[in-house]
Amino acid sequence: MIIVTGASGNLGSRIVERLLTVVPAAELGVSVRDATRARALADRGVRVREADFTAPASLGYSMEGADQVLVVSAEIRGDAAVVANTAAIDAAVAAGASHVLYTSHQAASADSLFPPQVVHAAAEAHLARAGVPFTALRNGFYAASLDVHLAAALATGQIVVPPDGPVSWTAHDDLAEAAVIALTRPGAFAGITPPLTAGVALDLGDVAGLLSRLTGRSIVRVTVSDEEWRTASIARGLPPAVVDFSLGLFRASRQGEFDVVSPALAHALCRAPQGVEETLRRLLGDRGIAVA
Ligand SMILES: NC(=O)c1ccc[n+]([C@@H]2O[C@H](COP(=O)([O-])OP(=O)(O)OC[C@H]3O[C@@H](n4cnc5c(N)ncnc54)[C@H](OP(=O)(O)O)[C@@H]3O)[C@@H](O)[C@H]2O)c1
Repeated sequence: MIIVTGASGNLGSRIVERLLTVVPAAELGVSVRDATRARALADRGVRVREADFTAPASLGYSMEGADQVLVVSAEIRGDAAVVANTAAIDAAVAAGASHVLYTSHQAASADSLFPPQVVHAAAEAHLARAGVPFTALRNGFYAASLDVHLAAALATGQIVVPPDGPVSWTAHDDLAEAAVIALTRPGAFAGITPPLTAGVALDLGDVAGLLSRLTGRSIVRVTVSDEEWRTASIARGLPPAVVDFSLGLFRASRQGEFDVVSPALAHALCRAPQGVEETLRRLLGDRGIAVA
């Protein structure tokens, strides 16, 4: 049986939908925190069990009978994320899985200026020591993350942020397809994968240019210092911890941590991955914005 965690989330739900096109539902299980959110999967014959990475005792039940487990990294910040993700990896091994997969990040590094990359590096190291065949999917940066800039860009015609750098904006759908390949094509991805990214890395100036072309409006990128941005963000009501988290992202991106692309995803998909334009079109469409 294949077990997928995080199956109610954006990535996990896409992975499960794709898996259901190639694996019988009876051979698929999901580990979710709230089974009511996965009722539609249960109705289709998928085994749905509840577990929380922060309550390790719950994980054995959700991973019972697993041959492979895909641990979708939990959306948790700080040291707690390392504890939670490694607990899920340990539970997969304890359940007897012969292949444990983990959704890491293209920029996973113990030295990263962006804390989630340190978490991923720790999870990868833990996985490598776990004693079972493993795959750490080094996913590119979610293109959907750009949504955070859209409201202000559309309202003011500006993306006002600290200096940044190019980022390997990659679509959830393509990363979900890669995860399914890793689960269903033996040996396709073994160990720590190469960066699984779209073909180009774009900075926010490039993104502003794309948004201008797609919307027919003038959208420009305005650079402010870290401190100016921090002060303005807190004045807008953002919690300081959230602001500092985002500042880590800008600092990491401008030192080039996300400026990495590789043909590995294209090779696995046997096609070019989606560019950031496709995701921007969808995000704009979701906001009811007409796109050129
Ligand atoms: N590559 C990137 O650029 C990038 C960017 C942001 C995040 N990420 C990582 O990729 C993961 C998946 O992304 P996504 O877009 O699917 O995010 P998402 O839609 O926010 O989903 C987050 C997932 O984390 C799960 N989760 C949170 N706390 C948990 C806990 N205590 N125990 C078990 N599961 C827990 C949630 O489970 P429930 O469904 O049960 O709520 C949910 O499925 C994120 O969680 C994050 O670690 C990667």
